[in-house]
Amino acid sequence: MSASTLSPVTPSQLCSSKNGLLGFSQNAVKPNRTHMAAVKRTRSVKCMATSIPADRVPDMGKRELMNLLLLGAISLPTAGMLVPYASFFVPPGTGGAGGGVIAKDALGNDIFVDEWLKIHGPGDRTLSQGLKGDPTYLVVENDKTLATYGINAVCTHLGCVVPWNAAENKFICPCHGSQYNNQGRVVRGPAPLSLALVHVDIDDGKVLFVPWVETDFRTDEAPWWA
Ligand code: FES
Repeated sequence: MSASTLSPVTPSQLCSSKNGLLGFSQNAVKPNRTHMAAVKRTRSVKCMATSIPADRVPDMGKRELMNLLLLGAISLPTAGMLVPYASFFVPPGTGGAGGGVIAKDALGNDIFVDEWLKIHGPGDRTLSQGLKGDPTYLVVENDKTLATYGINAVCTHLGCVVPWNAAENKFICPCHGSQYNNQGRVVRGPAPLSLALVHVDIDDGKVLFVPWVETDFRTDEAPWWA
């Protein structure tokens, strides 16, 4: 059969490899070499005609702008999620200048020295919130001034909070009976060490706790907690 008797070929058949090299179905008549060359030329022209016009391809500047917009759209929400996640792994600072922290009362309010001394008399030892949130005693001296040291209430045996016993003039641990004098020095075991100390300063009328790194004035030894 001659080429002029073959059925017409559509552009989709020509551009598709699904039906074989030339797009013929199995029922089609086997073409000769002249017809194959003609079809190849036609296919090439049709495929070019169906491709995207050159003037509709975005230029490099537009592509870069789109990439930047996409990057910004992804980066902002991602950073918003990562910052709080990363901050979870950062230990909280002690706050305040020089590593100090403002003392807080049982309600979480800042402690003002004048107000504190109005309601806490000589010899008083009352808990406040100290460095790293540790329960810390504020001590009122016999001359009605605030002592320049605070006493960490965490027992050095197994970590119970040690209450002040005014009648005994001692701190007595309810867990295993350790005792500390009125300055927190251990006087009876099983606690192996005295209660830790902190400095008490005044900052703008408020009580400020500062880490104690100097010699322990009760034992004349280096501070075990520093
Ligand atoms: S925890 Fe205080 S004596 Fe054991």
